[in-house]
Amino acid sequence: MSEWGSFDTISKGKGIWLIDSKGNKIIDAVGSMWCNVWGHSNPQLVKAITTQSKKIQHSSLFNLTNEPVEKLADNLIKISPGMNKVFFSDNGSSAMEIAIKMALQYWKNIGERNRTKIATVENGYHGDTFGAMSVGYVPEFFAKFKEQLFPTIQFPVPNKYRIPKGLTFADYQNNCLEKIEKRFSKKDDIAAFIMESGAQMAGGVIIYPKDFQKKISKLCKKYDILFVLDEIATGFGRLGSMVQYQEQQSMPDIVAYGKMLTGGYLTMAATLANKKIYDSFSGEFNDWKHLFHGHTYTGNPIAAAVANENIHMYKKYNLIKKIQKTSKVFEKFYDEILDIDIVGDIRHKGMLMGIELVSNKEKKIPIKTKKSINKVFFEEGKKQGIYLRTLGNIVMLVPPLSIQDNELELLLKRTIKTIQASKSKII
Ligand SMILES: Cc1ncc(COP(=O)(O)O)c(C=O)c1O
Repeated sequence: MSEWGSFDTISKGKGIWLIDSKGNKIIDAVGSMWCNVWGHSNPQLVKAITTQSKKIQHSSLFNLTNEPVEKLADNLIKISPGMNKVFFSDNGSSAMEIAIKMALQYWKNIGERNRTKIATVENGYHGDTFGAMSVGYVPEFFAKFKEQLFPTIQFPVPNKYRIPKGLTFADYQNNCLEKIEKRFSKKDDIAAFIMESGAQMAGGVIIYPKDFQKKISKLCKKYDILFVLDEIATGFGRLGSMVQYQEQQSMPDIVAYGKMLTGGYLTMAATLANKKIYDSFSGEFNDWKHLFHGHTYTGNPIAAAVANENIHMYKKYNLIKKIQKTSKVFEKFYDEILDIDIVGDIRHKGMLMGIELVSNKEKKIPIKTKKSINKVFFEEGKKQGIYLRTLGNIVMLVPPLSIQDNELELLLKRTIKTIQASKSKII
């Protein structure tokens, strides 16, 4: 951290622009940590917040409910095929903790004591709390807590950029799936399989090959293992579909949303479960089947009101169609980006692009420096007028979902300049 000194202060935002206290404007290339949908200071979303804040600012979901949150639960069930009930929380990590607890307790509730293990994939990411770190173990982030995390069974994800020698990509995918089936068939001890839906984000922007997620969901059905999806970063249009599991034809038992749920304006997340899961938690008081979990701000009515307006706007402005169209702007820049000598690979889907930096293109050696690549890119990006963040050697472009074609072109041109300007400082 000592490399940072002080931070710039953001005072305002307008559309895709962040404006600091000195009046400098930078493009929000990471959508304020992957959550911004309509840009900053959108009048409709601001109005939803102010209108609700005059009625009731917060009242608990313990023994009570409120109108915006009831409406939001209906809205979420409507857009999520197969899901039956919603459990609200206030951040993605908590939504995943809840998903883990629901999945583990489901088996206890139905009297099955042996299903206690969680299966997952290598380099998944589900948040920074202990349960989330356990099921989403990215070694670079979490190695310091390894002893405290609960063990999981991890399987590799096929990465098209790094296919093992002697294998075709199809073989590689089959190998990964075979490993999963081999373990599933060995012992009936796995409660749930947990993965990000559609792509791994923080673990390196790995976009799953077609049918990979679908085949895992089928294996889960075959071996009666709960299938839990994390759509916190990849749902709500980020990868070009409202609900990524629909595109992947992989029906989960439990799914979590967060980030873009409120358009990126207030903190809220949701864990949805199907009827089978929900029913296992109902019983007489003395059966002790209920889920002991709740946060102070669970179901906050202002956050719920802005989430409702956000979902309404997706429909009203046909946002998913627009994302699919604007996403093509990225393709126009593939060649130019790949031509840069430190760029090894680009991975793109919807409104997400990961640019992998390498020190040797042929050998695909990830760039590693003693300096923080993130800091170098942040400084150079700022000079070009963009707010950029890298994760390790991956430059992430995760702009507001409603970004216009010309704005995205500007962002990509500035990103190319930033990579070129950063080059000499990281190799
Ligand atoms: C896939 C995924 N799951 C969960 C989380 C955790 O969400 P939060 O930061 O709101 O706790 C993140 C955050 O980046 C994420 O990318």
